[in-house]
Formats: sequence, structure tokens, C-alpha cells
Amino acid sequence: MNIITIDGPAAAGKGTIALSLSHLINFYYFNTGNIFRYIAKTIIDEGLMYEFLINKNHFNLNKINQNVVFLKEIPDLVEKSILIDEKLLRTQEISDSSSIIAEIPQVREILNKAMRKFIYDMLGSNKVVGCIVDGRDTGSVLFPNAGCKIFITAERSVRTQRRFEQIRSTFTEDFQEEIKKKRVHDSLVLRDSRDGSRKRDPMIIVKDTIVIDTSKISQEETIEQILAIIRIKLPDL
Ligand code: DC
Repeated sequence: MNIITIDGPAAAGKGTIALSLSHLINFYYFNTGNIFRYIAKTIIDEGLMYEFLINKNHFNLNKINQNVVFLKEIPDLVEKSILIDEKLLRTQEISDSSSIIAEIPQVREILNKAMRKFIYDMLGSNKVVGCIVDGRDTGSVLFPNAGCKIFITAERSVRTQRRFEQIRSTFTEDFQEEIKKKRVHDSLVLRDSRDGSRKRDPMIIVKDTIVIDTSKISQEETIEQILAIIRIKLPDL
């Protein structure tokens, strides 16, 4: 199947690498994290984050679905997460909230269904040669039959520095003082723990996955390595 999955922890550089790769091999790129972020933004904007936090261990979709906007938007959920300005999804609050929301099994079920349908429709339409999908469980759960599965990781100190610089470059100088590296580090510790230990679909490395540690290699080298893997795993491209 012409699906390449790229999983890995927060701030490992998956998104940038997946996007560059998609241009090089002419694949469609889908960032699954953005859909969790989109839901988090919707819930925050609706003032419902507190309700999620207190109910998350006994979350009852039916009880609160009167209020939860995203449940009414399911048919266009994926499209909405694609069309929104990505910068609006990249705040610290949304990063933290999206990993909390991603722990809820019913939320994952709904989103997985929507994402699978979107990608299969895309492949079925013959508009694209293939798809690159990135996230936490895209090779293990979302597309277990993907032709090529990569797991990108890096030491946490390296990921902290990369995320810190990314945030700093996004905001104006007034904001820069507010953004402390420790806060970025602490948020990564929490997200790593939540993403790796949740009961439903935790981030794991399945056996047919190739792991690349990017702590000491450049983005270009990482891309070269992945291209070499793709040539082996998807020889018909
Ligand atoms: O990749 P990201 O940092 O933009 O993802 C935001 C959050 O969404 C992440 O902390 C966990 C969740 N997520 C997930 O649970 N499963 C995925 N396939 C992708 C993201």
C-alpha cells in the first residue's frame, strides 16, 4: 500500500521531514496531529476544556455531545483541520490540551475513522500517487498495512531546543520573553508520558518499523535515509 507512516514523539521534526519528503516523491501529506489540535482548539474556544479535564477518566460522549461542536462537524472534520491556518493550532495551550484529548478512547475512535476514510478516498480517487501520514500511532493503529513505516525520534534535550527555537521564530519579540525553555521542556515531558502511556493507541514502535534517531543528524541526512528506505520498501514508485 502506498502509504508511508512517520511516527514519533513531540518535536522530533516529523512534520518538516514529512512535508519535504512529500514534495520530493510527490505524495500527499497528512498531519494527523493537526486534527487532534483542531479538536482541542474547538473545545477550548467553546469553553469546554474544564469539562473534558474533570470527565476524562469516565468520559461520556453522549452526556456532553449536546455541547461538543466537533461531534456535529464530523463529516468535514478532516477538511476543517486542513483548511485552518496552522499557526492557530501551534500554541502551547493547544499542544498540551490536544495530548489530553487524545487519551480519550471515544475521541480516537471517531477521529481514526474520519482520517482513514479521508486517506482511502484520496488514494481511491487516483489524484495522488500515495500518502505520507505522520503522528503517534499511524503505523501501529491507523494504517497497520502501510508499505513503509518510520519512527523518528531524538533526545529530549534536542527536541526541547528545536521546539523552543520554532516557537521563538513564530512569535513577535514581545512574546519571546514569555516563552521559557523550561516550560517547553516540562510540556514535552508531560506529552511524552501521556502519548506513550495512554491505554488506547499509545505511541509504540511496531516490529516492521525503522527507527531513526535524529539527535545528531541534519534534516537533509534524515531525508536521505528515509528515501533510501522508501526505495527498498516501495520499489515500484
Ligand atoms: O504531532 P502533534 O504534536 O502535532 O500532535 C498533537 C497531539 O495529538 C499529541 O500530543 C498527541 C496527539 N496525537 C495522537 O494522539 N495521535 C496521533 N496520531 C497524532 C497526534
